[in-house]
Amino acid sequence: MKILITGGAGFIGSNLVRWILDNTQHTGVVFDALTYAGNLENLGGCLDSHRFTFVRGSVTDRESVSRVMALQRFDAVIHLAAETHVDRSIISADQFVSTNVMGTLVMLESARDNGVTRFVHVSTDEVYGDLGEFDFPFTESHPLRPSSPYAASKAASDHLVQSFIRTFNIDCVITRCSNNYGPFQFPEKFIPLMIVNAMEARTLPIYGDGKQRRDWLHVNDHCRGLLLALERGMPGEVYNFGSGHEASNIEIAQSLVAQMAASAELIKYVADRPGHDRRYALNNSKAKSQLGWEPEVDIEDGLRATISWYSEHSKWCNNVRTGEYRLYYERQYHEEL
Ligand code: NAD
Ligand code: DAU
Repeated sequence: MKILITGGAGFIGSNLVRWILDNTQHTGVVFDALTYAGNLENLGGCLDSHRFTFVRGSVTDRESVSRVMALQRFDAVIHLAAETHVDRSIISADQFVSTNVMGTLVMLESARDNGVTRFVHVSTDEVYGDLGEFDFPFTESHPLRPSSPYAASKAASDHLVQSFIRTFNIDCVITRCSNNYGPFQFPEKFIPLMIVNAMEARTLPIYGDGKQRRDWLHVNDHCRGLLLALERGMPGEVYNFGSGHEASNIEIAQSLVAQMAASAELIKYVADRPGHDRRYALNNSKAKSQLGWEPEVDIEDGLRATISWYSEHSKWCNNVRTGEYRLYYERQYHEEL
């Protein structure tokens, strides 16, 4: 297949491109605006293969999207481009609505108008809202009750996708995944922030009482799921991807501190996130039965490998911290085009 991957310079997108190169024969184009979260260093080596090329552009820009769609006839779109950090959406939601809602609309219309035969919309478990301590994990038919502006913008994009399936009969699959962790994750998110701060003996801020629970999934398990959804997903269906491994934030922080032999005194409780979701857990039996998907990475092994990755990639961490990574496109890639 020829695949257009939006948001492919971000955390999950870049791991997905690497996964596709290593495990399939697919080719394609990465289409990414390179916001603060996009980093071409994440794709290091992937663009040398000539199976994937890179185009800088925004999913909100109809002209750019039409131009790239006209470049080649894509069989599929995997749409990951989004604003993704909950805390940023609480400070200002405009960009979230623009990218996540309007950007998804532009991608859907372009896919429809250019005869793309399959559209995978990468959504999130946050669209369901949160669970009480004794509630059953979310199934795909759970109502959407988003809590944060980020989650609301993703829920709106899911509704748009569903309206295009019904109205225009386009072949879309929606995936809703739990919290990912692994290499190349921007250190504003919980696990990489804890690792990078612990490496430098800086404070590890825990929001509220730290007892909020998340279902942590290694990014490679998510990427495998996305490929299965692309290749085997039933048109119009939604698939949850979750590991079934729930842990509280404080448990994760303590486990990282112990594995890194850092001081537990670095952990500090700070003011809670407004509207903070208490618990996420996903029922993944549909993905198991219809796609043949299984989470494979054990959390302890995955965390250990992630700690090693961050400690072996101090240049990447440093470039992210100093902002140097934002010059990579202009300095190295753009000049080659
Ligand atoms: P990320 O923030 O690391 O990367 C987002 C990418 O999208 C960046 O490369 C950025 O430059 C690009 N982008 C942003 N706005 C754009 C625009 N207007 N046009 C083109 N590109 C744009 O995000 P991530 O964690 O890799 O998440 C990818 C997708 O997966 C998102 O849709 C997110 O909602 C979803 N998701 C993430 C998680 C998670 O735990 N990280 C879990 C479930 C679902
Ligand atoms: O569930 C999937 C979602 O997971 C994705 O859709 C989002 O894009 C992704 O950002 C993530 O959202 P969360 O809000 O769950 O992830 P985050 O890494 O921001 O926070 C994880 C938990 O850790 C959450 O309960 C808040 C808490 N936290 C976070 C930070 C950054 C802290 O206690 N301290 C922190 O400094």
